[in-house]
Amino acid sequence: MSKGRILPMRVVGIESSCDETGIALYDSEKGLLAHAVHTQVAMHEAYGGVVPELASRDHVRRLIPLLEQVLTAAACQRSEIDAIAYTAGPGLAGALLAGASFAEALGQALGVPALPVHHLEGHLLSPLLAADAPEFPFIALLVSGGHTQLMCVSGVGKYELLGDSLDDAAGEAFDKTAKLLGLGYPGGPALAQLAATGRPGRCKLPRPMLHSGDFSFSFSGLKTAVLTLVRNSDPTPAEKADIAAEFQEAVTEVLAAKAVAACRQRRLLRLVVAGGVGANRRLRERLDAALAGIGGRVFYPEIELCTDNGAMIAFCGAQRLLRGETPAVSHGAFAIRPRWPLDQLS
Ligand code: KG4
Ligand code: ZN
Repeated sequence: MSKGRILPMRVVGIESSCDETGIALYDSEKGLLAHAVHTQVAMHEAYGGVVPELASRDHVRRLIPLLEQVLTAAACQRSEIDAIAYTAGPGLAGALLAGASFAEALGQALGVPALPVHHLEGHLLSPLLAADAPEFPFIALLVSGGHTQLMCVSGVGKYELLGDSLDDAAGEAFDKTAKLLGLGYPGGPALAQLAATGRPGRCKLPRPMLHSGDFSFSFSGLKTAVLTLVRNSDPTPAEKADIAAEFQEAVTEVLAAKAVAACRQRRLLRLVVAGGVGANRRLRERLDAALAGIGGRVFYPEIELCTDNGAMIAFCGAQRLLRGETPAVSHGAFAIRPRWPLDQLS
């Protein structure tokens, strides 16, 4: 990889791990030049969740037009691209393959390296794209549809896992609970919206593992508690809003308490929040208050970069290339990793 090290460096990022196709162009000196996301929400809505085969096919349809859109918006010629970064995992296998094969083919066609990127590392580093970015080291709370993790981050590739979810991820719990309350897909934003109209505390839900003394999470019991409530009482719309509000209180209380405990334990005053659930307003309020309570601060990605996007993948790829990482020339052979623990990265 010789071309990629010439500065400034322009990296295309390609994200296709689930139900969003994201493409971006990042310049190592000028920052994010352009990005575009196509969400498949409307397509999956009728099924109440992501249909993997439909997701893969839609990624294939969207990748080229999105790339053209981004290059036009950034007034960038293809010959000015220095590298391609793409999500290689974790995620849905077929969806990952769509993006990975496109990225590898594009790299070969342009004669530039294609770099596989870990989706969660993309989320983790996404707050560094903000104007007011945190410095290393920091504690990171990763809250997405598939993961709930607390990490201690001391640099690019230096991730120590402090705690993980033992069952459902926070986003998954939001999605499943939303379904129980008769809300559409994706459930997280819908449940948050309903919660804003309800009153927490009218029904009482557990705060799972709040006092476990470690950084593990468990949200499946909370979802079951909501199921029991719904089955036993056939709630009115107003009562459903109260359940949604109490559910949101329970999840955000546990997340905030454990995040601040991790900061205390590591004596760090910077907390980074990444992943789709990081868009939740109540979670932000709670985290801001908890960190202010210890004289610390919370850093978030730009709101549009909280959920899946190509910008975080382009940025992450650029950071790795700037560190001197040299992707092997694939000669058409590449691998995706639908399951890929983040702390296996270096
Ligand atoms: O990071 P992300 O876009 O995709 C994954 O990598 O999983 O996160 C998606 C998750 C979904 O579970 C969605 O319901 C949740 O983030 N989410 C929210 C909100 N916005 C998105 N959950 C709670 N409140 C929100 N405002
Ligand atoms: Zn994600």
